[in-house]
Amino acid sequence: MESGLTLCEKLARSTEVMKEALQGCNPRIGVILGSGLGPLANEILDPIRVPFKEVPFMKTSTATGHVGQFVCGTLGGVEVLAMQGRLHGYEGNSAEEVAYPVWLMASLGVEILITTNAAGAINTSFNVGEFCLMADHINFTGRNPVVGTEPDELAFRFFSMLDAYDPELRALARGVAQDEHLTLREGTYLGLLGPSFETPAEIRAFRMWGADTVAMSVVEEVIAARHHGMRVMGISLLSNMACGVEGASPSDKEVFEVAKEAEPKFCRLVTGIVRAIAAQCL
Ligand code: HPA
Repeated sequence: MESGLTLCEKLARSTEVMKEALQGCNPRIGVILGSGLGPLANEILDPIRVPFKEVPFMKTSTATGHVGQFVCGTLGGVEVLAMQGRLHGYEGNSAEEVAYPVWLMASLGVEILITTNAAGAINTSFNVGEFCLMADHINFTGRNPVVGTEPDELAFRFFSMLDAYDPELRALARGVAQDEHLTLREGTYLGLLGPSFETPAEIRAFRMWGADTVAMSVVEEVIAARHHGMRVMGISLLSNMACGVEGASPSDKEVFEVAKEAEPKFCRLVTGIVRAIAAQCL
């Protein structure tokens, strides 16, 4: 992103290009689809697709299964702007580059962000294939997207992370899961850089810190979203038990197999949530 432009100037340019591509589609709800969860974007009706690489100053996805495009259209009758694939730090992206699409969504008028991922379960009472609402997070990436010389230009640099995962949206998600007969756990998510999976010793340490789930995404997006005042919901698919839990040794293959199996349930959950947000005028 060495363009000599400020973050705000870059975002203004990207916003202009996106607005043109979206042809008046103006969603309030943004959805980030994590590993193996991208097929939900195929449920979006009347889709307008914008590859990340066509958006100035945006990096593109290189991670397996991350298509790397925005998909704008209607899900469950509600307009959404989805990211089919995301940007990770482990791909070599800076924290600011990971956060960039979130700031872009905010600039396009998105007020509610639903970010999703596949995660390992640290909490031994959780089961593979269940979903888990993020109630809070531990940012263990060692980075923060708001670090910089001019973050105040976009929004004030000091902001509270109390209730970063919106309690009202979490209650709504619990209601939808109940209606859909889906198991939805709730817990503290720990995000780290990756790409190596954790060691059993790290997992034991994270458990003592109060972490219930772990993965390599989300925290930088959520910090960026809260920086801009967006309301946030985070949902993990528990794709595996974390390393060393019940002898588990996580693999990419397992993550994608579990995600494929969970796809219909994940679509019901997220579509139901989007519908409920619109129905309750949140
Ligand atoms: N650890 C880190 N990232 C992950 C995991 C995990 O166990 N599962 C899916 N993404």
